[in-house]
Amino acid sequence: MAQQDEIFKKLVSHSKEYGFIYPSSEVYDGLAAVYDYGPYGSLLKNNIKEYWWKAMVQLNENIVGIDAAIFMHPKTWKASGHVDAFNDPMLDNKDSKKRFRADQLIEGVIEKLQDKINKEVEKAAKRFGDSFDEKMFRKTNPRCVEYAAKAADIDHRMNLHMKNGDMVGLKSMIDELEIADPDTGSRNWTEVRQFNLMFHTQLGNIAGEESKLYLRPETAQGIFVNFLNVQKSTRQKIPFGIAQIGKAFRNEIVARQFIFRMREFEQMEMQFFIRPGTQQDWYAKWKETRMAWHLALGTPQSKLRFKDHDNLAHYADAAVDVQFEFPFGFRELEGIHSRTDFDLGAHQELSGKKMQYFDPELGENYVPFVVETSIGCDRMFLAMMSHAFTEEDVPDAKGEDAKRTVLKLHPALAPVKCAVLPLLKNKEELTSAAMKIFNDLRYVVNCQYDEKDAIGRRYRRQDAIGTPYCITVDFQTLEDNTVTIRDRDTLQQERIKIEDIERIVLQKTDMRRLLEKL
Ligand code: GAP
Repeated sequence: MAQQDEIFKKLVSHSKEYGFIYPSSEVYDGLAAVYDYGPYGSLLKNNIKEYWWKAMVQLNENIVGIDAAIFMHPKTWKASGHVDAFNDPMLDNKDSKKRFRADQLIEGVIEKLQDKINKEVEKAAKRFGDSFDEKMFRKTNPRCVEYAAKAADIDHRMNLHMKNGDMVGLKSMIDELEIADPDTGSRNWTEVRQFNLMFHTQLGNIAGEESKLYLRPETAQGIFVNFLNVQKSTRQKIPFGIAQIGKAFRNEIVARQFIFRMREFEQMEMQFFIRPGTQQDWYAKWKETRMAWHLALGTPQSKLRFKDHDNLAHYADAAVDVQFEFPFGFRELEGIHSRTDFDLGAHQELSGKKMQYFDPELGENYVPFVVETSIGCDRMFLAMMSHAFTEEDVPDAKGEDAKRTVLKLHPALAPVKCAVLPLLKNKEELTSAAMKIFNDLRYVVNCQYDEKDAIGRRYRRQDAIGTPYCITVDFQTLEDNTVTIRDRDTLQQERIKIEDIERIVLQKTDMRRLLEKL
């Protein structure tokens, strides 16, 4: 774990140094859990959004996109349940004055027990060598069994208290488990209270509850309230979906782990409207479809898994997370929720406007059910960056070239697809030939021209931002119109004709190739 922590720290500093992510308003020492995307970060983020949008909207005739406002009528959030139920259980440490989420403190104990199990397994694996049967060891070793039973019991009791909204129960667990403030060791806690996660502001200069506006905590409600507008204007028939990418805001109590849990973030959500009673089938279909979307990027199956929700949100009758193995462990990357007719039904009731669909095949009106897929763009960004971040030795290289840091991003997501590099800076024949290639290529893909420093250094700079190809223009180029093309991952260099550059670069980097795998 210590090694993973180290890698994560390096990733955070790499992200800043190479213009992916900066702390927000850093000149004022930053703002907790708010981040800005730099030149390469914004390109990578746009590519992630493009992949999602094309896979969800462009490739599905029965899914259309919208872009709803962040501000919505305050009654929206009453109907959706967010005013009353969008809470986290929190408590303060009276000595350190720091605020924590009760469930996360308890989960910390479970994680420690799991670490202990993993240590036992590691020790035994070393002791027994090739004959080690890990599954059997976990099942039979008395210490592993004891730790696992303890973790399961804590998990079960915590989930029960969460489900029942039992704050006293959570507090008594914190006392019983002797949980201390991780920074100071103090156990001087307040009671556990519910804390609403929505940010609010005031409309114009009108005071009072009526003018209280919320910054949306999910983009989904902009889709629900527009359901009939979209259905009528696009003449879609059920089943059909509405997709949206946009900002969401949550006053997270414990915002940490870089961009994993932010207070301002971006969601990519799709609400799929279906006949009541068909939700199980559609839920299964969207689980499969979304997993295929992740796998197409080359993320190994071992880094992705489904985790059913223990505590269902107020709107769901089934819910699962797609978890990704971040450097700090498996965590939620995406949620797939069967939201029943909760949202449309609640808006119908509070607004007094019908939210029904006339099904021509059944000849009847009903409030559609909804299965949603919801992924955080920033979390997807972190998943891709942490999977791509690699430090490795370069074969046959010496000195500062012997090691490299490379972002092995999927080429379709890479911010820059190709760099054009003249071998030498002060040879006009080389720079003008390279510039000509660059000026032609920039119409097709995002590429860079770089003539500063030795060629090895320029390769490293491109590796560090994940550029899949480097094209080098050398003296042979002037003789036979060929260049070398270097592959970021294999480090192989090949000689190709100038006229073939575009085709070769597009073969790997074009979003189309990725979409065709779906
Ligand atoms: N409309 C359903 C919904 O909002 P959610 O599980 O609360 O469900 C969906 O959020 C996704 O949004 C999560 O899987 C995660 O990727 C992202 N997300 C949620 N809170 C976040 C935060 N504070 N920072 C970054 N991403 C977040």
